[in-house]
Amino acid sequence: MQGSVYHLNKADIRKAEIINTDIAETMAAGEILLSIDKFALTANNITYAATGDIIGYWQFYPAPSPWGIVPVWGVATVIASTCDEIKEGERLYGFLPFASHITMRPGKIKPGSFIDAAEHRSKLPPIYNDYLRLGSDAPADPRTEDIQMLFQPLFATSFLLHDFFMGKNCFGAQNIILGSASSKTAMGLARLFARYASPDRTIIGLTSTSNKAFVAGLGDYNRTLGYDEISALPTDTPSLYIDMSGNAQVKRALHGHLGDALVYSCAVGISHWEQFEEPGDMPGAKPVFFFAPDHALRRRKDWGGQVLQQKIGTELMDWAKEGMDWLQIEPTSGMENAAQVFSDIRDGKVNPKIGHVVALTE
Ligand SMILES: NC(=O)c1ccc[n+]([C@@H]2O[C@H](COP(=O)([O-])OP(=O)(O)OC[C@H]3O[C@@H](n4cnc5c(N)ncnc54)[C@H](OP(=O)(O)O)[C@@H]3O)[C@@H](O)[C@H]2O)c1
Repeated sequence: MQGSVYHLNKADIRKAEIINTDIAETMAAGEILLSIDKFALTANNITYAATGDIIGYWQFYPAPSPWGIVPVWGVATVIASTCDEIKEGERLYGFLPFASHITMRPGKIKPGSFIDAAEHRSKLPPIYNDYLRLGSDAPADPRTEDIQMLFQPLFATSFLLHDFFMGKNCFGAQNIILGSASSKTAMGLARLFARYASPDRTIIGLTSTSNKAFVAGLGDYNRTLGYDEISALPTDTPSLYIDMSGNAQVKRALHGHLGDALVYSCAVGISHWEQFEEPGDMPGAKPVFFFAPDHALRRRKDWGGQVLQQKIGTELMDWAKEGMDWLQIEPTSGMENAAQVFSDIRDGKVNPKIGHVVALTE
């Protein structure tokens, strides 16, 4: 059987190749072979590649040097199985390679979930090894499934950030400033702050000039500013910066302007991956990296994994029902077109209204 895989050069994520491969249909006992049906692509996948060595994302799906395989979130179907509990035809949702097929070794199998117990994944954050079992029927509502692929990993981060900052009373901040305000992770967080609003807090979205109108129209931010309008922020109000952009120039400008009024600075993402670098010493609070899987581990201990997933899922579905009129899901099919979408997102040619969902099989 023929398959394909998208390889990125680990040292230069502008270089890529699509490799056609023979898919081995013989498996060891207890394994499943999956055909990857669909996955979402957002700036988060570019970040996986840009931080592949630092955070370890290349380790999930090893490839021969100099190549790496970028992880994606999507849906796959079991096409062969030597595992008694998981049959051919079953569909699942979770962390997958940018490829047409993958072999897994299911462990901790439950009616609704299992983990990939492959040895090389055992030391990686458990949140990435969990798979949701979707049964064998086609999805009742394909849009809901697309929303899950697009938003679940990002909104889980929005939820965990909100949970973390509410637990800390936002470190006393009144102004909550979100960098890369048009990213799905930031929009989800703004939604939660707006939903559980405190009248003393103002949620401010910082974004590119071209995305200002979109961000302002969402209704979840109290105020929207362009990256070139940082000097309009008040310097006498305790402020918290939650940064999805990683843009060092913006970070330096914001810290420099707010100084001691910046009570906490949280580094979450690098959607502006080319403008990311160590910002050096800056006035105000020293930036602290927030890694969602670490906070998820804490909450899994407190509540259990299932309760955590339910809480995230309920909030996400509320948002999908009430607050995503702006979302345009853009379907793409085939590996070559998928590679083009990846390049467009990497190069910043993304309209924040668009949710890219790639289908590899019909
Ligand atoms: N730490 C964690 O655990 C964690 C978890 C989840 C996500 N994240 C990170 O959060 C960030 C946002 O991810 P997402 O998937 O939510 O993003 P997304 O929805 O795809 O974000 C799109 C927005 O990001 C900015 N952007 C995207 N690509 C760009 C480029 N090449 N150049 C300049 N700006 C660009 C633009 O926003 P603006 O114009 O508003 O800047 C754009 O509207 C990523 O870096 C992701 O890895 C981190």
